[in-house]
Amino acid sequence: MTVRVSGGPARDYPVVIGSGLLGAADAYLPELPASEKAFVVADHRVAGRFLGALGRGLAARGLQTIHLGVPEGEEAKSLPTATALHRQLATQEAHRDDVVVALGGGSVGDLAGFVAATYMRGIRFVQVPTTLTAQVDASIGGKTAVNLPEGKNLVGAFHQPAAVLADVTTLATLPDRELRSGLAEVAKVGLALDLDLLGELETDPAPILARDPGAMERLVARCVRAKAAVVAADERDTGRRLILNYGHTLGHALERLDAFAGRSHGEAVAVGLVFAARLAERLELAPLGLAARHVRLLKSLGLDPEGPLPASDEILAAMRMDKKYRGGVRFVLLEDVGRPRVVEGVGEDLVLATLKEMGAAG
Ligand SMILES: NC(=O)c1ccc[n+]([C@@H]2O[C@H](COP(=O)([O-])OP(=O)(O)OC[C@H]3O[C@@H](n4cnc5c(N)ncnc54)[C@H](O)[C@@H]3O)[C@@H](O)[C@H]2O)c1
Repeated sequence: MTVRVSGGPARDYPVVIGSGLLGAADAYLPELPASEKAFVVADHRVAGRFLGALGRGLAARGLQTIHLGVPEGEEAKSLPTATALHRQLATQEAHRDDVVVALGGGSVGDLAGFVAATYMRGIRFVQVPTTLTAQVDASIGGKTAVNLPEGKNLVGAFHQPAAVLADVTTLATLPDRELRSGLAEVAKVGLALDLDLLGELETDPAPILARDPGAMERLVARCVRAKAAVVAADERDTGRRLILNYGHTLGHALERLDAFAGRSHGEAVAVGLVFAARLAERLELAPLGLAARHVRLLKSLGLDPEGPLPASDEILAAMRMDKKYRGGVRFVLLEDVGRPRVVEGVGEDLVLATLKEMGAAG
């Protein structure tokens, strides 16, 4: 399946979704005129599993594969790692037409994309996402970034890939916790944007939990289409893209707090989704029952949206640090499933009351 994503004028790119794409990359990549080398950024775990197959696919296109190793996960998203990659590109004589390939999760995608965006003012970039989060979310939309000690994603650039190859068979080896993180984003898309997807998730999540390749292909394609439609309308994140943040205002705040440490991004987003639904009910924006529907869906996907929370005043303080905080708490709320809306200036008293209702102390 191929979904075309608009990355701005004359910058459409294909997102190819399927099984066994890595070794057949030559058949699925678009023309890459004058490229000689593919610099594949991957951590050792992902490289050990998938670099051999991808290298064969790239070689069939006449591209020499050069592996650039990075640390695993979020730790890779740093300026020192980005600088090390820039320097390796320089010493290995990467030229303007060569291509940087991100093979791995969203961290490697964000890092490699940032390096590609900044090396020689921007060289070609291909995403080969191997986590559910990266396939349904991080590889689409052209946002790239690294972290600073002061905060996440503070240094970055918009840089659209030439193509995205999402091979769902790579998901077979993903740890359960990583799968669940991706499923929280999938639930977000279903609840806020795609009622057909929501229907499928509510009817029978078993094939997805079993990682059935056919079910995963359909799931990834639906999420990519939904994100692509939002991104195309707002390439540089000034308006409609905000709705992709559904559940993330509280989710990001929780992740900043030590008291939430040890729980995953997916669990933070799951709590954030239920919180947003409760807030919408409290504001009488949404019908009663919306939050209960969120809880049922998230639990059926193996997420726990009702676990213990840090103190409510600490959570509120963390929300005020959000990049998207504008003189008041701003939330994406649903008028009902499939009907998202940005609500400005939600009173902090309401936020606190809703947090307490969910069990936060204070
Ligand atoms: N740019 C965007 O629009 C966007 C959107 C969402 C998230 N993100 C970013 O993505 C990052 C999170 O990405 P993530 O959830 O993919 O995790 P990750 O990239 O941080 O970590 C993935 C982990 O799983 C391992 N792994 C990857 N693929 C595997 C596979 N197929 N089998 C076994 N292990 C595998 C990796 O070795 C690594 O340890 C965050 O930094 C977040 O900010 C970016």
